[in-house]
Amino acid sequence: MSIENFIHRFEPAAAAGLPPLLLLHGTGGDESDLLPLGRAVAPGAALLSPRGKVLEHGMPRFFRRLAEGVFDEDDVRRRAGELAAFVDAARERYKIPAPIALGYSNGANIAAAVMLLRPQTFAGAILLRAMVPLATPPHADLAGKPVVIVSGAQDPIIPAANAARLAAQLREAGARVEHQTLPLGHGLSNADLTIAQRWLAEAAGTRAPAE
Ligand code: MLT
Repeated sequence: MSIENFIHRFEPAAAAGLPPLLLLHGTGGDESDLLPLGRAVAPGAALLSPRGKVLEHGMPRFFRRLAEGVFDEDDVRRRAGELAAFVDAARERYKIPAPIALGYSNGANIAAAVMLLRPQTFAGAILLRAMVPLATPPHADLAGKPVVIVSGAQDPIIPAANAARLAAQLREAGARVEHQTLPLGHGLSNADLTIAQRWLAEAAGTRAPAE
């Protein structure tokens, strides 16, 4: 796999000691979409941002779906493997350590799939408006990996029970999961940014956890 396999943008680190972020956009987004969010969550961190290769009526995504919230799980598995291989190749090319995934919606769902299918790929994950990507997850060893899931209580796409199931699946695999639910819908807000910043500072060990 070559890194040319995904259209992507890479911003090198401008500060030392921060983990790189892998930015994964939502349906209809592209490789530029989450750069401002990435810069705000981790100022100075390296940012790697690929564009999803599946097109749904011209809108980029990271895997095929059969309907809203109904996924083509064979495609989820295949695309998760491709994305993990891209991350490995990009780490070699850009000389970066394992990234923390920062995904929104469809991007959060592929990040969750990569965690479960290729657990060594990410150092951790920030999953904004994520849902269960695989009905029957494989046995994965995510021992100690930090994950934060931020859900919306009024999200019309993701039932609360589904997001809770994802948190449970990741915990069962050994991840250290924080699950927050905001009084919001599917869209993001400043509260997501605040949670992601605080969580990352704790996960990256740059600040002591709040009491
Ligand atoms: C998905 O298809 O991954 C989810 O329904 C979220 C979305 O992209 O709308």
